[in-house]
Amino acid sequence: MQNAGMAALGLNWRYLACDVAPEDLPAAIAGARAMHFLGLNLTVPHKLLAVSLVDELDLSAETWGAVNTIRFEGEDSDGNWRPLAELSELRGPVRSRGFNTDADAIVRSLSEDLAIEPRGARVLLLGAGGAGRTAALRLADEGVCALWLINRTEDKARELAVEVAGRFPAVEVQVGYPDSAVEIVLNATSLGLKAEDALPLDIGRFPLNRADVVFDMIYRPAETPLLHAAKRAGCRTANGLGMLLYQGAAALELWSGCPAPVEVMRTALQHEIYGPKPASAPDAP
Ligand SMILES: NC(=O)c1ccc[n+]([C@@H]2O[C@H](COP(=O)([O-])OP(=O)(O)OC[C@H]3O[C@@H](n4cnc5c(N)ncnc54)[C@H](OP(=O)(O)O)[C@@H]3O)[C@@H](O)[C@H]2O)c1
Repeated sequence: MQNAGMAALGLNWRYLACDVAPEDLPAAIAGARAMHFLGLNLTVPHKLLAVSLVDELDLSAETWGAVNTIRFEGEDSDGNWRPLAELSELRGPVRSRGFNTDADAIVRSLSEDLAIEPRGARVLLLGAGGAGRTAALRLADEGVCALWLINRTEDKARELAVEVAGRFPAVEVQVGYPDSAVEIVLNATSLGLKAEDALPLDIGRFPLNRADVVFDMIYRPAETPLLHAAKRAGCRTANGLGMLLYQGAAALELWSGCPAPVEVMRTALQHEIYGPKPASAPDAP
């Protein structure tokens, strides 16, 4: 999707994927800076490690405690730090600046793919790993009214509930299933990656027809057992393709300073993940 987006913007850039062991991450970032790469994306398990490795943290990375995008910057003739892509010549040092584009991508996908705004919503969040934590904090920041957290390792859900309550006192947060209906069920567990996986929630405790929308961060398969069950229960659904797309589109905008060609990137992503005839990702809002 990045190469398609860059080509559509007329940029003679290439996006490459490299496997990097966690112990080599400092050398990988330093090497990219030395070679004047314009930027990097990082995925699990590097997002937390990178927080202490970049020269500067953008507010987004500071707020959500994870870096998924790095932009390399140099000084212009007035001594202001600019993205390398905007400098015609490079005089002094290069610095790395860490951003987080994942958190906003969750809210954007809910809004654009499911036409639902989290403000004032009641949300059942499944999972308290890295993605679950980001989702809980970002949704709390967006002004959800109540958040229920479920996680296999309940202690992690409790820790997250304490963090949310401390940072966002207006949000009613608890560990367990809601007794009443919710607007949003959001799966941030890895359950559903495999066809034989169990559902990430106990539908005896929370029948899915009590939810308006069900959002699954997993995008492969296009329809997880949770999304299948949610559709049968009459919920509107979306998988994680939109989230993946929007975090990438935001990264391209940070590197290039240009609006990302989102539909070009979406088509490329669908083609890459689902093949030439894309499976329908989100329901039409
Ligand atoms: N669409 C996107 O752009 C996007 C972005 C990020 C992540 N994701 C997806 O989100 C999911 C979580 O990613 P992550 O980075 O948060 O991973 P993570 O930090 O490893 O967390 C994994 C989560 O899944 C739970 N889990 C794993 N195996 C389980 C099982 N057998 N039964 C019940 N719960 C289980 C874990 O519970 P415990 O705490 O008990 O281990 C934890 O809550 C993944 O499927 C990933 O592909 C999608």
